[in-house]
Amino acid sequence: MSPLAVPRKKPALSPAVRKATDPIYQRVKRIIPEIEWAVHAPLIARINELKKTRNALLLAHNYQTPEIFHGVADLSGDSLALARQASETDAEIIVLCGVHFMAETAKILSPDKTVLIPDLEAGCSLADSITAADVRLLRERYPGVPVVTYVNTSAEVKAETDVCCTSANAVEVVESLGTERVIFLPDEYLGHHVRNHTDVEVILWKGHCEVHEQFSAAELRGYRDLHPGIRIIAHPECPQDVLREADFVGSTSGMINWVGDHRPAKVVMITECSMSDNVAVHYPEVEFVRPCNLCPHMKKITLENILSALERTEHRVEVDPAVAERARGAVDRMLAVGRGARG
Ligand code: 13P
Ligand code: SF4
Repeated sequence: MSPLAVPRKKPALSPAVRKATDPIYQRVKRIIPEIEWAVHAPLIARINELKKTRNALLLAHNYQTPEIFHGVADLSGDSLALARQASETDAEIIVLCGVHFMAETAKILSPDKTVLIPDLEAGCSLADSITAADVRLLRERYPGVPVVTYVNTSAEVKAETDVCCTSANAVEVVESLGTERVIFLPDEYLGHHVRNHTDVEVILWKGHCEVHEQFSAAELRGYRDLHPGIRIIAHPECPQDVLREADFVGSTSGMINWVGDHRPAKVVMITECSMSDNVAVHYPEVEFVRPCNLCPHMKKITLENILSALERTEHRVEVDPAVAERARGAVDRMLAVGRGARG
């Protein structure tokens, strides 16, 4: 070894931390190197202990990093599953490890609970693409046409909405209205996907996800050239030409279920890249090709700020009660459509 090389010393885990976290590590050790685990483990042990004493439920979106997803989450899933779980829990505190609109949806559904988000800055480019005033103007322009809004929006936008949807149930929700036309907000690409799967006329808005809009059809063709036989599965927030190249299109949970059902030899998930790490834990026989498009908002959530959220009961997500009541109507109408739908 060169005299200048710094020896990489593995931080020692206390016996108590090792005992508390070893069963988790056995599940994730193919994905998380031991040297990283030594940093995560004390935080994971403390968070899991605090969750019990605080009667807190930790909900994690599928894009959270593996140490959060497998280490501390009580329940995980896509936006639809997180909304359902938030509406059903008995816990006093919900810690939402995801982005702000997800925490707001939890608060709308559980107004009497304390809903925390570890970083208030965890936003979403889709939620930022439209305001409540925009929705009111659209209603003036298209009188009588119902408004279907993707959950990736603020509470104020939801309050102006007839019914919400997620990527798992968008077509079903649009068709449930029984109208010839709907206004579909704000994701243009998800709207295109809906249009391709229904006879209902869909009026679109030009909101985009900053992560999924980066994928291109040429990139997907490149994966097929480089990895003959590879299966390509994509999230419907991707542009239309990208979706046309995919073997399957579905919500984040829909994509996870597809891998479980099909067990492809090689797959690429055209979505945020932490998801492949999380799914790979369960399917060692599947080879994941991982384009790394990170959602900078999802990545604001860390073990450190989750611990701080539990220790300090921060950051509380509040929604004006009048806005929340109107928004709840739109979210409840969504939950009532096709209960039990699998993305
Ligand atoms: P899902 O509802 O499919 O989990 O999508 C949420 C999201 O933000 C995807 O970018
Ligand atoms: Fe929003 Fe896109 Fe991030 Fe999902 S991946 S939270 S849609 S910015």
